[in-house]
Amino acid sequence: MRTAVCPGSFDPVTNGHLDIISRAAALFDEVTVAVLRNPSKSGLFTVDERVSLLDRCVRGLDNVNVASFDGLLVDFCTERGIATIVKGLRAVTDFDSELQMAQMNRRLADVETVFVPTSQEYSFVASSLVKEVAMYGGDVVGLVPDEVLASLRERLAERR
Ligand code: PNS
Repeated sequence: MRTAVCPGSFDPVTNGHLDIISRAAALFDEVTVAVLRNPSKSGLFTVDERVSLLDRCVRGLDNVNVASFDGLLVDFCTERGIATIVKGLRAVTDFDSELQMAQMNRRLADVETVFVPTSQEYSFVASSLVKEVAMYGGDVVGLVPDEVLASLRERLAERR
């Protein structure tokens, strides 16, 4: 069985992420979306909230499941028998750091990385930018799934 992981912070999941996750689901038999638990970085959403939002967003994709992890991504892959990491590339600016991580992960545990080019309509979309725009009242409809939109507005209102 061909298995893959789509790792990230997903704070929150965007339509750009979902584009990559759904295309990974078409390429692999089973895809695990893995949310990083990073104790040194607090986000807008807790990790459990991010997992729950992702769960709702991937409900229609039968071969996709969602989990969280801490520590090294390759350790998570090894524990679960996952051989491939799938990453989206939005632009050449993503490439330097992604190549570095791909080479490190291969050296650490022989885990391959497959890069999927982000669809053009999402090439400028990043969780951080979406949060900033939404915080100042900008329109982010179409950039995040509907399931996320309401939670995003609610959380930003609480923070005001
Ligand atoms: O969405 P992000 O924040 O760009 O995702 C980055 C992520 C989670 C994929 C990356 O930071 C990661 O894999 N972290 C886990 C720790 C790790 O394995 N570090 C070594 C990478 S070579």
